[in-house]
Amino acid sequence: MNSKITLSVLGFGNMGQAIVGGLINKGIMSPEDISIYDPDEGKQKTAKEMKVDVCPLPEILLEKSRVILVAVKPQVLKEALFPIKQKLHESVLLVSIVAGVPIEFYKKFLGVPNLKIIRSMPNTPALVGCGITGVSLSPECGEEEVRVGKVIFSSVGEVVFVPEPQIDVVTAISGSGPAYFFYLCEGLISAGESLGLDKETAYKLAVQTLYGAGTLAKVSKELPETLRMRVTSKGGTTERAINYFQDKDFLGIVKEAIHSAYRRAKELGMQNLLE
Ligand SMILES: NC(=O)c1ccc[n+]([C@@H]2O[C@H](COP(=O)([O-])OP(=O)(O)OC[C@H]3O[C@@H](n4cnc5c(N)ncnc54)[C@H](OP(=O)(O)O)[C@@H]3O)[C@@H](O)[C@H]2O)c1
Repeated sequence: MNSKITLSVLGFGNMGQAIVGGLINKGIMSPEDISIYDPDEGKQKTAKEMKVDVCPLPEILLEKSRVILVAVKPQVLKEALFPIKQKLHESVLLVSIVAGVPIEFYKKFLGVPNLKIIRSMPNTPALVGCGITGVSLSPECGEEEVRVGKVIFSSVGEVVFVPEPQIDVVTAISGSGPAYFFYLCEGLISAGESLGLDKETAYKLAVQTLYGAGTLAKVSKELPETLRMRVTSKGGTTERAINYFQDKDFLGIVKEAIHSAYRRAKELGMQNLLE
């Protein structure tokens, strides 16, 4: 228990690099404890620059560590897993960040019914170390796997553990969530421009407001609702805008949008299981 963790990474793109970079920069792991495989020469070069071990073949990854992080795109998942299939055994921990791919898929495809699997859903702010990752564990996982999951994903932000069916909710809220905030930001920019601001100024006002409000919500002990009320003086400008949002049932629209994202996440998970 609490033994040193080593990590193998299959696919060293945006997310693979963000996690490995976070682990090294935060001093959680040393570069020599990490091995990667990626067919792309550019990614191999990046890994070498980070002093990370680069495997010439994916099957070697499992000789380097019993924990393998699968960080490839869903379209190439089967092709990427195929070479390691024969090398997998029950003491391996497979950690997947591949969106929409259920635990059951890995068990069936890899033919190891008792494989320990962590299924996770990070989000794009992980690329700047400010992500949040929803993590689900297969029933074979115990305390050690919980620890490994926390270690890996705390490298790129915060971690919440949820039962696997709720990963689709995590997908709809925090996985897709950055896009909702960016969309609101787009709306602020275009409203600013429509009122005569130049694009650069509108962009600066909107993005810094997004960043500042997010930071305030995070560090404050108050709920978002209370923070909103603080900006909303009676008869003032904010109240006028909030009243308009409420007349248009803004919260109802947000809820419906998130429910539709949730339904789509479930559909995609089901498709991946059946394919
Ligand atoms: N980006 C996000 O914010 C985010 C959030 C949540 C979940 N995810 C999940 O994270 C996963 C990775 O996303 P990403 O944005 O990091 O993708 P990415 O940048 O495309 O990285 C994937 C890497 O895998 C490499 N690769 C292709 N075929 C391979 C194979 N057979 N074996 C090993 N590596 C192979 C790719 O090389 P080539 O470039 O040469 O193809 C690429 O370097 C996805 O499944 C996605 O669903 C991403």
